[in-house]
Amino acid sequence: MSFVLALDQGTTSSRAILFDHAGLIHAVAQREFAQLFPQPGWVEHDPMEIWASQSGVMAEVLARGAIAPTDVAAIGITNQRETTVLWERATGRPVANAIVWQDRRTAPLCDALRASGHQATFARKTGLVLDAYFSGTKLKWLLDNVPDARSRAQRGELAFGTVDSWLIWNLSGGTHVTDPSNASRTLLFDIHRGEWDDELLALLDVPREVLPDVVASSGVCAQAALAGATVPIAGIAGDQQAALFGQACLEPGLAKNTYGTGCFLLLNTGRQAVASKNNLLATVAWRRGATTDYALEGSVFIAGAVVQWLRDGLKIIRSAAEVEALAASVPDNGGVYLVPAFAGLGAPHWDAYARGAIFGLTRGATGGHLARAALEAIAFQSAEVLHAMETDAGLTLSELRVDGGATMNNLLMQFQADLLGVPVVRPRVAETTALGAAYLAGLAVGYWRDDRDVTANWQVGRRFEPAMAPDHAAQLKANWDKAVARAKGWD
Ligand SMILES: Nc1ncnc2c1ncn2[C@@H]1O[C@H](COP(=O)(O)OP(=O)(O)OP(=O)(O)O)[C@@H](O)[C@H]1O
Ligand SMILES: [Mg+2]
Repeated sequence: MSFVLALDQGTTSSRAILFDHAGLIHAVAQREFAQLFPQPGWVEHDPMEIWASQSGVMAEVLARGAIAPTDVAAIGITNQRETTVLWERATGRPVANAIVWQDRRTAPLCDALRASGHQATFARKTGLVLDAYFSGTKLKWLLDNVPDARSRAQRGELAFGTVDSWLIWNLSGGTHVTDPSNASRTLLFDIHRGEWDDELLALLDVPREVLPDVVASSGVCAQAALAGATVPIAGIAGDQQAALFGQACLEPGLAKNTYGTGCFLLLNTGRQAVASKNNLLATVAWRRGATTDYALEGSVFIAGAVVQWLRDGLKIIRSAAEVEALAASVPDNGGVYLVPAFAGLGAPHWDAYARGAIFGLTRGATGGHLARAALEAIAFQSAEVLHAMETDAGLTLSELRVDGGATMNNLLMQFQADLLGVPVVRPRVAETTALGAAYLAGLAVGYWRDDRDVTANWQVGRRFEPAMAPDHAAQLKANWDKAVARAKGWD
């Protein structure tokens, strides 16, 4: 019996999961790590802690699954995207903390680039909007602010990577690679040519010497040392693209929404990179062989994270799972709306200066209303990006495939179906991010034969049918729009 090992390095935790031929979970190990908030709007991770937690769960999952490292056919890597690491090639030591995708410190830099008229160039080549979310301005910030960093980078002494690159460097003892799904989130990569772009590098003052080589998303790119054995690293994809693959959305027109820290709705657009007219992103889904597939993406920064805030910030629940019972303690939101713009607003608003706000409080408002408003905010934001996507792609989704930690919440899933007026479908295996990385790796080494194996493995767990009157849903959405308008442009 052999397995594929997926390493899912997320924003809040590192996970290692062993999958079998049926795409079912054989064993899981997971470890949370520290979120660092050195200033308002800044979010950092310690790259050494990322690596320590990831290598720790990698060893642990073998023990839990009671298998030998030689039973691992391949390793697939998937990761929080855009988070930026800069390290010394000679020692492998980071020169600073990782700047996390949620970090807003480079918003003024994005404003300046926009004011100089560069937005169109970035959009045309990268499919992205100029926002602090993406790696490019974070890397520029490190090169500008870490002493000697730019000159050292020019001399080839430093390596830049998103978290996939950082993990592979450590797993392999110095292989410096990334894949197009991760590269397409940097503002430095031309998604149409599939290469780093000199004009963009010049605009952000990034020397080419720091960049990793771009390899296929599915294919052996390095050998990892795993508990004394050598195992091929054969798949790489950013977490959202991996989830698209794990949901078997392998054909144009198929879409999924992941409810994790944020919400990320991705629609497979096949060989076409569709330029959005509604503030969505065009991005690389994956490259296999010489073929690149693209996706249209709506990124919502705060989704499940608002539940973490109820737990850790307000302390009105003890665990994320408790939010469902608290929200169910009231029949409706009682007129309370919570806009979780804690890190600005992503798609379709792209307002780095929006901040979180609660509207409609009255003397009757309770923790139950707040919990309900928090869950509803996740669904409202998802509905906004879904509508933008339908307009862009000129199609109407007949159902929505969902995954991620917050999809365990049945009240949220039912509200989502009610709001959208289409069924919401949760698969049997909700760990689709890790599963997608496993598939990309397993397909490369012949563990799975072809895409038909992936499609055949996908199974429905539960379907939520819409039950709310459409005019009631429209009224709730109108209230939400009013709340969002008032949260914008605060900072
Ligand atoms: N029952 C629940 N109801 C609502 N939200 C939940 C529930 N259980 C977990 N969550 C939220 O789901 C998120 C965790 O889901 P998941 O592990 O998929 O996130 P993630 O974004 O993949 O994490 P990471 O960024 O570390 O990869 C947390 O933000 C948590 O608050
Ligand atoms: Mg995740």
